[in-house]
Amino acid sequence: MTPLLDVNELSVGFRTGRGVVQALSGASIDLAPGEILLVVGESGSGKTVLAHSLLRLLPRNAGVSGSVMLHGQDLLALPPRAMRRIRARRLALIPQTPASALNPVRRLGGQLLEAARARGLTDDAARRRLRTLLAELDLDLAAVGARYAHQLSGGMQQRVVNAMALVGEPDVVIADEPTSGLDSALVDTTAQQLLDIAARGSALLVITHDLRLAERLGGRLALLYASRIVEVGPSAAFFAGPTHPYGRELLRALPEREGKPIPGLSPELTALPAHCAFAARCPDRFERCGGALPDLYPAADGVLSRCFSHAQR
Ligand SMILES: Nc1ncnc2c1ncn2[C@@H]1O[C@H](COP(=O)(O)OP(=O)(O)O)[C@@H](O)[C@H]1O
Ligand SMILES: [Mg+2]
Repeated sequence: MTPLLDVNELSVGFRTGRGVVQALSGASIDLAPGEILLVVGESGSGKTVLAHSLLRLLPRNAGVSGSVMLHGQDLLALPPRAMRRIRARRLALIPQTPASALNPVRRLGGQLLEAARARGLTDDAARRRLRTLLAELDLDLAAVGARYAHQLSGGMQQRVVNAMALVGEPDVVIADEPTSGLDSALVDTTAQQLLDIAARGSALLVITHDLRLAERLGGRLALLYASRIVEVGPSAAFFAGPTHPYGRELLRALPEREGKPIPGLSPELTALPAHCAFAARCPDRFERCGGALPDLYPAADGVLSRCFSHAQR
């Protein structure tokens, strides 16, 4: 079966006064209808850049290469008008900073309805659906609709933009940290809404460093380190035992596990090494690691790992 979303060798570099910031390097992912893919990685590893490059929302200093096929059509080659239609109906973004997605000088009711209309819903259907989505998140459409964004807490704004993105049941939902600022009960409800959306056939790309949300959502997981996917496979396999040393050390660093931080720093994106970017911090490093960049090798059932320890020797 051809996937709904098929991303191949996607790279993004930002031209800056300090040189090129290589924010994403050769990322390949695919998503089928109803599938969930989690993208996990520390701050600055390229997660938001990945989301924004799929939606073509990058600033002008970005150089992009690779392909982003949706329904067999390369989004990177579409004229801007066609891309705007895709964003309204097929690909929805739950942005990392909800306030940036809300117009500060308009009441929220109008903005919610407009989002639903752009996705092809009638006003009646939109109101019903928004009322349900918001009620699940403990918000009342009439009360929230009469307010302005600044009158809501960060957590309430997050819930409003989540409802806005989910209202039209788009083919693909890209959620960038959809639970930031939410307490644990609301994390659970948001997870349930995302699972419901996937169960109805939308594909979900969820960016998160909330590992509790990740475990709850299941699906597949791609781990990013210094702009590159270093491990990809079933989420359950990752939480049971990562195959890449970075994944293993990342889980050990969690306060609820060993709370043992990884020594050293991730490399500057303006000066990425030509070999494994984790080599300098890796407790398993051997000679080959400082020489060349490893491919993604089969490491366990359905798991690929960018580590020479899994290469055929
Ligand atoms: N417009 C830009 N110009 C230069 N560098 C950028 C720009 N946007 C993002 N970056 C850099 O790209 C890297 C990845 O950023 P981002 O995808 O936002 O990380 P995260 O994984 O935390 O979401 C960071 O080092 C960030 O500073
Ligand atoms: Mg981000």
